[in-house]
Amino acid sequence: MADTYQTITLSVDNAGVAQIEINRPKKLNALNNQVLDELNQAIERVETNSDIKGVLLTGAGEKAFVAGADISELAELDGAGGKSASGKGQAVFDRIESLNIPVIAVVDGYALGGGAELAMAAHIRVASPEAVIGLPEVSLGLIPGYGGTQRLPALVGKAKAYEMILTGQPVKADEALSAGLVNKVTEEPVEAAHSLFKAILKNGPLAVSKAIRAIRIAGSSDGFEKEASLFGELCETDDFKEGTSAFMEKRKADFTGK
Ligand code: COA
Repeated sequence: MADTYQTITLSVDNAGVAQIEINRPKKLNALNNQVLDELNQAIERVETNSDIKGVLLTGAGEKAFVAGADISELAELDGAGGKSASGKGQAVFDRIESLNIPVIAVVDGYALGGGAELAMAAHIRVASPEAVIGLPEVSLGLIPGYGGTQRLPALVGKAKAYEMILTGQPVKADEALSAGLVNKVTEEPVEAAHSLFKAILKNGPLAVSKAIRAIRIAGSSDGFEKEASLFGELCETDDFKEGTSAFMEKRKADFTGK
């Protein structure tokens, strides 16, 4: 990877899983403009590199995934600046959710404000028992602006989302798990995320990518129609022929992604 970053790191392992780590541990990985720009650049890298099969999002240091948007930058915003800053964060996070490969966030420590919103833009969240997840923006006189008012209700339902956003109070790992905000809580969240990638990446890659597309629009008016179209497209693929033949021949499928 030719890019150099100051506030994130990007590496790719042998399985093709790219790890993007937010790397400002002294500021608990708070998302300033530079982090958002570099995150956007890294996502572009991922989009254009077909060897990358999945993305792992992590935060550097012991204490936080990401403790929010950088409050020192937020403090300077006026109306127009605020709208545009919110639009910028939303665009980067939408780009993450729109990736056609699986994205898993590991929440170890604080995921507050923009950090919770970043984790919610991932397709799957794995937490450590130390995870503390919340949207405390109202305590700053704001509302979540990087998609939190939309993604939190989709994950936990409106009632819990009202409670969390209006009180601003975070939830700990066990409550996040029971609310459906995280998929798993474990002492070894990075290993658990890699196990999930292993389970996902043995499946037909085209099917995985179309499943992501379909689930992303769940609840929208054309969701069922889109599901049928994507299902039909998959029926034309080599992977579909290989997957069904392998089942009938009682052997492991060897998918080519075609
Ligand atoms: N923006 C900017 N800086 C932040 C930050 C944020 N969202 N969150 C933490 N930091 C900085 C602190 O200012 C501090 O910097 P300093 O050492 O230069 O003073 C450093 O990170 C460490 O944070 P600190 O508050 O000393 O750690 P803590 O363990 O006492 O508390 C938190 C941890 C997460 C409870 C606390 O940092 C916090 O409440 N952060 C803001 C959370 C928030 O409101 N996020 C939503 C923003 S929209």
